[in-house]
Amino acid sequence: MSKNTLTVTDNRTGKTYEIPIENGTIRATDLRQIKTDDDDFGLMSYDPAYLNTASCKSSITYIDGDKGILEYRGYPIEQLAEQSSYLEVAYLLLYGELPSKERLAWWEYRISRHLFLHNSLVELIQAFRYDAHPMGILISSVAAMSTLYPEAKNIHDPAVREKQIWRIIGQIPTIAAFAYRHRIGRPFNLPDSSLSYTANLLYMMDYMNQRDYEVNPVLAKALDVLFILHADHEQNCSTSVMRSVGSSHADPYNALAAAAAALYGPLHGGANEAVLRMLQQIGHPKNVPGFIERVKKGEMRLMGFGHRVYKNYDPRAKIIRKIAHEVFAATAANPLLDVAMELERTALEDEYFIARKLYPNVDFYSGLIYQALRFPIEYFPFLFAIPRASGWLAQWLEMLEDPEQKITRPRQVYIGSQRRDYIPVDQR
Ligand code: CMC
Repeated sequence: MSKNTLTVTDNRTGKTYEIPIENGTIRATDLRQIKTDDDDFGLMSYDPAYLNTASCKSSITYIDGDKGILEYRGYPIEQLAEQSSYLEVAYLLLYGELPSKERLAWWEYRISRHLFLHNSLVELIQAFRYDAHPMGILISSVAAMSTLYPEAKNIHDPAVREKQIWRIIGQIPTIAAFAYRHRIGRPFNLPDSSLSYTANLLYMMDYMNQRDYEVNPVLAKALDVLFILHADHEQNCSTSVMRSVGSSHADPYNALAAAAAALYGPLHGGANEAVLRMLQQIGHPKNVPGFIERVKKGEMRLMGFGHRVYKNYDPRAKIIRKIAHEVFAATAANPLLDVAMELERTALEDEYFIARKLYPNVDFYSGLIYQALRFPIEYFPFLFAIPRASGWLAQWLEMLEDPEQKITRPRQVYIGSQRRDYIPVDQR
């Protein structure tokens, strides 16, 4: 009869241990009973970069990386992208279920009541140099929000937590728009709560007192779908940071600022920016084979390709590829799309990429769409961060309510010097 346990024999001592298996995992702390003698600390698992360690139980997002499946609370990403809206998806992630019609109207209203920034925050944004990277402005602004709403420290009060969530989701697009207008030296457009979440963002960024100004609904919808696709992605680098910082009971603003800092890196949310720079550098489809050869020699990475979890086409990239064509029908065609498609075609036929299961990820085509929407390249990671805020916050709430979670504190394997005596500087 099969048993849900693992039997381990320690060949150092000849002792055998039976360790329970739950949800396809063993508890790392169960290894600690495996000792050579009473003074031994006990066995630990060594897992740099968490390649095979589950840090939590979660019911928010499900990914099957081999099959290319992504689901939020059980709903396939393809259905949400086609039929839902970003704000509805944010509600789903945070509250666990799709809202009723009344509840959705309530939620949209709550967010629309938190679009305006505190004047001190506006002044902070204005204090940045004109060419400050928008992610620097985002990280600083969100951290600064904790000084404006000090009650946020009370993380054990569900009503206080909920209010900060409304504030963050409401104000992040306004910070993005103001950071942009500051950069181009134009006055800020105050938020318009009669517009949809993404139409309001485009309006705040673009409006220049034109008569009969209207946000292009095709572009607002495309951005909304991109926001749905970016809303959560289980325990990635930035989400783990959100949980780690949140585990010390820091307020959600500081935890989210740290998560945004993790997202900024070019191996994570900064990849969309890096993809666009790479496509510009390649310049023309005829230069693709030469570029691929350099990638294979290890001179550089093919940005927007590969994923820690997906060993198949990233399902988000499939949807984005389709939207790219819709957006380009409503804007001018982007010649870099031809470069991107040629890169994808060449890479997917090449043994190097096939053997390593490297496929386009979410960032491969998203930058082309952001560029068609006339966002400057440096803004791309910010456009990832705006929707990811709802995922970070959902994961933060789940972590706080999980009785098994404690302050995050990994172990290490010490490989430094043995104990030695200090030598005064004049004797060294
Ligand atoms: N171009 C060329 N080779 C690659 C690439 C790439 N983009 N990605 C992985 N490889 C190779 C890598 O060199 C290694 O080869 P070898 O076995 O010969 O040493 C093998 O594939 C495995 O790579 P890895 O670095 O062990 O894989 P990882 O899981 O640690 O890295 C990754 C995942 C996303 C950081 C990586 O694929 C990468 O750097 N991609 C480019 C950056 C990018 O597009 N990031 C966005 C990720 S999706 C959105 C997000 O997370 O925010």
